[in-house]
Amino acid sequence: MTVDFLVIGAGVAGLSFALRAARHGSVLVLMKGGAYESNTAWAQGGIATVLPETQCFSGDSIESHVADTLDAGAGLCNETAVRTIIAEGAATIEDLTGYGVDFDKVGERFQLGKEGGHSYRRILHTRDTTGLAIARALIETARQTPNLTLLEHHVAIDLITTTKLGAVADDRVLGAYVLNALTNEVSVFRSDRVVLAAGGCGKVYLYTTNPDSATGDGVALAWRAGASIANMEFIQFHPTCFYNPGATGPEARSFLVSEAVRGEGGVLINDKGEDFTKHSDPRGSLAPRDIVARAIDRELKRTGADCVYLDVTHQPKGFMRERFPYIHETLLKYGLDCATRPIPVVPAAHYQCGGVVTEVNGQTGISGLYAVGEVACTGLHGANRLASNSLLEGNVMARLALADMLCHCAPGKPAPLPPPIPDWQPGNTAEPDELVVIYHNWDEIRRLMWDYVSIVRTDNRLRRAAARLRNLGKEVREFYWGHRVNADILELRNLVTAASLIVDCAVRRKESRGLHFTLDHPATEERFRHDTVLRKF
Ligand code: SIN
Repeated sequence: MTVDFLVIGAGVAGLSFALRAARHGSVLVLMKGGAYESNTAWAQGGIATVLPETQCFSGDSIESHVADTLDAGAGLCNETAVRTIIAEGAATIEDLTGYGVDFDKVGERFQLGKEGGHSYRRILHTRDTTGLAIARALIETARQTPNLTLLEHHVAIDLITTTKLGAVADDRVLGAYVLNALTNEVSVFRSDRVVLAAGGCGKVYLYTTNPDSATGDGVALAWRAGASIANMEFIQFHPTCFYNPGATGPEARSFLVSEAVRGEGGVLINDKGEDFTKHSDPRGSLAPRDIVARAIDRELKRTGADCVYLDVTHQPKGFMRERFPYIHETLLKYGLDCATRPIPVVPAAHYQCGGVVTEVNGQTGISGLYAVGEVACTGLHGANRLASNSLLEGNVMARLALADMLCHCAPGKPAPLPPPIPDWQPGNTAEPDELVVIYHNWDEIRRLMWDYVSIVRTDNRLRRAAARLRNLGKEVREFYWGHRVNADILELRNLVTAASLIVDCAVRRKESRGLHFTLDHPATEERFRHDTVLRKF
């Protein structure tokens, strides 16, 4: 199959791109699972945006949003990217409301929430299911858009580039090998404009707020294709994932309690009822996430407790039900009335701040290949993402990526004839009868990343993780080449690559900055004020 635009992933970035691109050519969007299995659909908080006073009451300014973003990013943001993305906030809200997203309002003006690290109320939201509201609006619109096909249960195996096919003159993307996860058949999807919008890699860690689909597919595909990857050491841990030890099923294990709850007065306390976060930062529970997550980690180690608590019991009666109905209901389902009892919480892996090196318009080093949203590293987040900046980034990048493509590789513009694309070679065609190997390795990667490469790191732990991942990578490669591919093997292969990229970046950063904290190098050092860039070739 040949299409004008091939999009891998269907969160806010992929769908925002697809809906616009469909006005210019045929678009195919590949989704690993169902349409709603994305980080976007799970996002609770909202979109940080500065709007004119006619649309909201805030006293806020673009300069203040830029300053907060740079402050959270701990010296590693690309200020040009920050300014470009933040300046596009109003256009993003117009774009999304145009698709039918219904942000909460008070009267005629948008209601603004507050989150950690923000100097003003500036988070537009739809109660506490903002991501779902956005996903629903985009998916519903996409389903009715001519020229746009959403293909569920299709997993990209590898990108096809001229370089991989042996051409040396130019490095261009030609499409992808794609597995139909229902039939296990592999096809070639040809396109000279490919958009990676595959999200992040939270499932690399044992505890995460991400859905099961977040297995680092985007960075792994880009890395194997030869794109540069940067700043993977900066994995953001969300401070408040519901601690529910007996739970089974992804929702119960990964349930996020939005930072917006702290924005509305929720306070983190230990089991003695003390507000321990104040010892780390005067902003207490509303300090940026890296600080709060480390404060919790320290408190858990100091007290030996399994969790800390998010206390909202002082809120007026009915407040949680009204402002955070999804969180309130879900906690009730697990037997906790947060109006009367503090919520047990622990930090969990939440967001990948690094990724595929791109311009702010998503352009990678491979011609025709763009990466947008969480998978990309534009420099917006630097060493730590400011809460609720990422849905904004996804939408803005999608619009800029299309504009760039239409300038530089408009459909029909002649390109040198590519080498012929070989059919998929299934390798040694044995069926994967040893699934236990996959599950064992999957589990081992997630545990070792949690134990050795999470909130607090050391040289020794990183060395151990690197050694184990080298062996696991070898095993997974042998398994991959020795068996007919299926979705589980592909995810495991991507997971081990993403984990290795995180560790490879982390061992290079011999300082502590933003989300990367190591006991062996606790200071922030000027000589390390640069991105950690990994190049394959
Ligand atoms: C949250 O609701 O706490 C998540 C918001 C974000 O990660 O941007």
